[in-house]
Amino acid sequence: MCGIAGVISLGDIAERLVQCIHNLEYRGYDSCGVAMVNGSPHIHVRKNIGAVAEVSEKERFSSLAGHTGIAHTRWATHGKVTRENAHPHSSCAADFSVTHNGIISNHERLRARLTRDGHKFLSETDTEVIVHLVEDYFMKSMSVEKAFVAAIRELEGTYAVAMISSHEPDRIFCVRKESPLIIGLGTDANYVASDFNAFVDHTKKAVFIEDGEYAVVAHDSHSIKSIATGEAVCREVLELPWDSEMAQKGGFPHYMLKEIYEQPTVVNSALDIDEAKIENLARLTVEKNLVLTGVGTTFYITQFAQYMFSIYGGATPLALSSDEFRHLARMNKDSLVLAVSQSGETYDTLTALRVAKNQRASTAAIVNVMGSSMARTVDSLILQGSGPEICVLSTKAALSQMIILTRVALEAGVLRGTITRKEANARIKDLRAIPDAIERTLNEKSGFIHTIAKAQSHINHWLFLGRERYYPVARESALKMKEVSYVHAEGMPSGFLKHGTIALIDEKMNSVVFMPPKEQKELYDLSMSSVEEIRARGGYILGIMLEEKGKPPGVFSDVITLPKAPSFVAPYLQMVAAQLLSYFTAVTLKRNIDRPRSLAKSVTVA
Ligand code: G6P
Repeated sequence: MCGIAGVISLGDIAERLVQCIHNLEYRGYDSCGVAMVNGSPHIHVRKNIGAVAEVSEKERFSSLAGHTGIAHTRWATHGKVTRENAHPHSSCAADFSVTHNGIISNHERLRARLTRDGHKFLSETDTEVIVHLVEDYFMKSMSVEKAFVAAIRELEGTYAVAMISSHEPDRIFCVRKESPLIIGLGTDANYVASDFNAFVDHTKKAVFIEDGEYAVVAHDSHSIKSIATGEAVCREVLELPWDSEMAQKGGFPHYMLKEIYEQPTVVNSALDIDEAKIENLARLTVEKNLVLTGVGTTFYITQFAQYMFSIYGGATPLALSSDEFRHLARMNKDSLVLAVSQSGETYDTLTALRVAKNQRASTAAIVNVMGSSMARTVDSLILQGSGPEICVLSTKAALSQMIILTRVALEAGVLRGTITRKEANARIKDLRAIPDAIERTLNEKSGFIHTIAKAQSHINHWLFLGRERYYPVARESALKMKEVSYVHAEGMPSGFLKHGTIALIDEKMNSVVFMPPKEQKELYDLSMSSVEEIRARGGYILGIMLEEKGKPPGVFSDVITLPKAPSFVAPYLQMVAAQLLSYFTAVTLKRNIDRPRSLAKSVTVA
C-alpha cells in the first residue's frame, strides 16, 4: 500500500507536502520521506523510519526549500523497515527521485541488468529499479518525459509512481497501473496523491488517471497521455464530495471514536440512497447468480448479506473472501459479482472483479470512495456516502454497507415474491430506528462498556460467538478486537463451539455471545445452549442483547443491554456495542488506535 504525494507550486511547498503524507498515513506508517528539487542539480531527500510527525521533526522536512516535491509514507513489502528502504529513492546522479505504491514484479531481472550496466542500488526495494531505469533511458534520449515513458513500458506488476527530476524542475511525472493515483487542481498549486484525503485541505477539484495513462503536472496545468500511443487524453475535472472538516478529529481523542459516533448519520445516508439504485441492483441479483465478495471487514459484511439474502431475498448467494476468489470462483455470463469495499482500492477485491470480468460475469460494487478503482471498474455502482473514514479500522463504513445490502436483499425478496412489499417496508421502517438506538447506546452504555473493557483487559483470548445472522457480526467483532487491541480473538458460529474449540474454555478464555431477541425463539434457545456449555466450564461470558421484558438470564457474567428497539435491528446495534468494547480495550492497553501496528487501511498489494 503506502501513500504517495506530490506538490508543485511557485512558492515553497514543504509544509504542504508533509501535510499531504500526514493525511495519507493510514495507508502505511512504518517510514516516510520527502524529495525536493530546488535549483541544485541534486535532488534533496530526507527520510527515516517512524511516523510522519516524528520523522518530519527529526529530519526537519519543513525546512526543505523548493517548489516541486514528492513524498511517501510506507507500509513495507519489499525490504525491511529501514532508512535505506524508505522512499523516495534516487538515481545514481541524484537527478531523479521516485515514490511508488505497488509491486514491481520483474524488479529482480531489471535490477540485475541495471547493476551490470553500472547502477548502484542503495536499498532492497523493488521501487529503486524504476528510478535507475529512468536514469538509464535519460542518458540515451536526454528527455525526461521520454525516459519516464520508456521506463514505465518495461515495468511489470502494479504501481502508482510520482517522479521529479532536476532536469525538469517544474514538473511532476506520474503514472498508475492498478494502484490509485489522482491529480488535485488547486488555485496556487497542483497535487498528485494516492487519494484525495492528501490534498482535501487545499482543493476539492480532482482528475483521475486511468491504467495505461501517465500525467505531467505543472503548478498551473496538467496533461494526461496514453503510455501506448503518447496521445493526449481528456479527463473531466470532478468536484469531490468531502471537505477537510469531515476528515478532522473534531474534539474526539481518536478517529475510531469519532467514526463510531458518526454512525447515526451514516445509517441515515445509507437509508436515503435512491430507491431506484437499490432496485436496479436488486434486480440484477435476481436475474443473475449472485456472488458477494470483500475482504477483512467487508468479507464479514458480505457474509452478513448472505444471511439477509437467504432469509429475506429468496436465494442463498455465495460469499467469498476476495483473496481466495480467483482460486474458488467459476463465473460465466450469468454471474453477478458484487464487491464490497470501503476504499474501493483493495487489491484482492479488485482482482476478484478482474477475474470475474475475464470470466464474462457482470460486476457491481458498494464502495465509499468516489472515483476509486472499483467505482470505475464495475458495471453497476452504489456509492455509500459515509464520508471519509480515516481510522484504519472500518466502523461506520461497515455498518453502512450492512444497511445498504439489507435494503438490496429485501428488495430482491420482493422481486422474487418471497416477502411482500408490506413486509419489506416494515423492515425498512425498523432500520430507521437504528440511528436513535445508536445515539442511546453511545450516551447510555459507553460508560458501562468501558468498565467491562477495563475489568477484562488482562484477558488475552476471546471467543466471539453468534448464530445465523449474528455469526458474521461475531466474526467482524472478533476482527475488530484483534486489529485494534492485538488481543487474540476468534469469531465462530456458537453451534460450532462444541466441535472442538470448547476445549479451550477456562478462566483465561472470555466469550462474547451475540444473543438473538427472545422472539426468535429457536435461535434464542440454541444460543442459550452454547452459553450454558461455556458456563459449565467456568468461562466468563459477556452477553450482548436488546432490552426485553424480564431480566436477562443469570448465566451471563456480564450483559450489555442495548436500548429497546425492533428485534430486526439487534445485529446492527450489537456490532456498534462490540466496536466500543474493542475500542475501550485498546484504549486501556494503550494501543495505537487509529493506526494499529502492521495494518494499513487500504491494502493495494497481493
Ligand atoms: C485492510 C484493513 C481492513 C479492511 C480491509 C478491506 O485489510 O486493515 O480493516 O477491512 O482492508 O478494506 P476495504 O477498503 O476493501 O473495505
